Amino acid sequence: MKVTVAIDGPAAAGKSTVAKKVAEIKGYTYIDTGAMYRAFTWYCLEKGVDCQNEEQCVALIPEVTIKLRPGGTVLCNDHDITREIREPRVSGNVSYIASYKDIRLFLVEQQRKMAGKHSVIMDGRDIGTYVLPDADVKIFQIASVETRAIRRYDENISKGIPCTLEEIEEDVRKRDYIDSHRDFAPLKAAPDSILLDTSFLNVDEVVAAVIEIIDRKIKEKEEKESA
Ligand code: CDP
Repeated sequence: MKVTVAIDGPAAAGKSTVAKKVAEIKGYTYIDTGAMYRAFTWYCLEKGVDCQNEEQCVALIPEVTIKLRPGGTVLCNDHDITREIREPRVSGNVSYIASYKDIRLFLVEQQRKMAGKHSVIMDGRDIGTYVLPDADVKIFQIASVETRAIRRYDENISKGIPCTLEEIEEDVRKRDYIDSHRDFAPLKAAPDSILLDTSFLNVDEVVAAVIEIIDRKIKEKEEKESA
């Protein structure tokens, strides 16, 4: 049975860490939609384009090809930018890029194609509300802003990306604000999503909770189909 799981939520809530592990355990394909917005942002910065200039950023669409490889490698026009897209300069600009409708339509089309083929777990901001409104399972993963900032700070430090906790907290707050206030497909919980507060849970506990939700939803779906 083909299964689609959507995990949405604010910045640095641990969605990708959890989605990757769940994908491994359940044999699903993991699709990191945030990496695609980050890759587009990286390309704008490489081209020296002002990320707050919508017209100039949108004009780059025809020259951008983004590929997500199994294992998490991210390619933009065949350059491996897996590491670069996590740098603060990209995080600090990505929410502007993600607010441009034409860029979203360009990337969402690819995300829907990827989801069409396999059982997938896809994480982002608008997966349950816009990209995959018919997803079998929708989870909205949250945590306090302080917890999220500490998690992202630890992650960056372990990857050798220099930053301070204050910078990270500011970035997380700023992205949450822009992501939830944009006009087109903003960050929002789908009405049929399950809220998962991970503030006081470790990664293994969140993974277990997500798997429990998936198994329950699939069972309900199977029962409905056979009734
Ligand atoms: O990992 P983190 O939560 O920091 O962010 P991400 O998932 O890598 O996403 C980076 C940025 O891309 C977000 O802050 C959003 O501006 C944008 N994004 C989006 O608008 N829609 C998505 N489906 C995924 C990401």
